[in-house]
Amino acid sequence: MSDSTVVPPASVVLVSGGSRGLGLAIVTDLLASGLKVAAFARTVTPELTALGEKYPEHLHYGSVDINDPKAGQDFVKEVEAKLGPIDGLVNNAAVGQDSLHVHTSADQVAAIIQTNLTSPLVLTRFVLRRMLAKGLKGRIVNVTSICAQRGYPGLVAYSATKGGMDSATRSLARELGGRVLANSVAPGFFASEMSAVLGQTQLDQIVRRTPTGHLTEPDEVVPVVRMLLLDNTNINGQVLVVDGAASI
Ligand SMILES: NC(=O)c1ccc[n+]([C@@H]2O[C@H](COP(=O)([O-])OP(=O)(O)OC[C@H]3O[C@@H](n4cnc5c(N)ncnc54)[C@H](OP(=O)(O)O)[C@@H]3O)[C@@H](O)[C@H]2O)c1
Repeated sequence: MSDSTVVPPASVVLVSGGSRGLGLAIVTDLLASGLKVAAFARTVTPELTALGEKYPEHLHYGSVDINDPKAGQDFVKEVEAKLGPIDGLVNNAAVGQDSLHVHTSADQVAAIIQTNLTSPLVLTRFVLRRMLAKGLKGRIVNVTSICAQRGYPGLVAYSATKGGMDSATRSLARELGGRVLANSVAPGFFASEMSAVLGQTQLDQIVRRTPTGHLTEPDEVVPVVRMLLLDNTNINGQVLVVDGAASI
């Protein structure tokens, strides 16, 4: 194996939606692993502020709406100035949905697609251009969902965005010719603000259908993201499902 074909571990990782839920768990884990991390969301939470106090040299965070490309680009430049060039990107920020397609307005469909598909692709483009211009190799992890592979009522537009990101992952892996490893991690349902719309009956049903007997925990997804960012593997263009085989 030639060293020139190996993509080294990421050292400065940008996590979108790192203020709570899975994104916060990923940020916490990467900081504990010694990485430099940048995180944004529309609202900075006390948990993210506390991490900033614990890791003042290693964490840069701020309030950014991913649908404001200029704000996202300014944030990327701030991160580079404070932490160094970005060589890892976790596209985690997303909005959920809890409405039958026939009851979802055209504006709501457009907003879900903007936040979960268009804006992450635009951010990825901006980060990649800077990474490649600096001659860096890197890693991209797209957090998608089991909804991209299995049908769930009330999640039509959401599922379409997650399937779109999985497709983009495969084409990115091809297009980037091994300089940047691009993969998706597709979790099953886990407890968070996003999934709080699920009723107990639905949660019980998912658990009954899951061979491992429990809902996925963010802590079970985090090591997979870490592996894709840091480990020396030849995994590229894949969708790794973390759902206890609920969808099998
Ligand atoms: N929960 C589940 O069951 C589940 C299952 C499979 C996949 N996923 C995926 O896992 C990822 C994390 O989900 P989660 O459950 O942890 O969700 P969550 O708790 O709702 O967190 C979503 C994060 O994204 C941020 N965000 C949302 N809209 C944004 C915007 N316009 N600009 C910037 N940041 C924005 C949120 O902060 P602000 O609202 O303050 O902006 C928050 O930090 C998502 O990609 C989701 O689709 C979730």
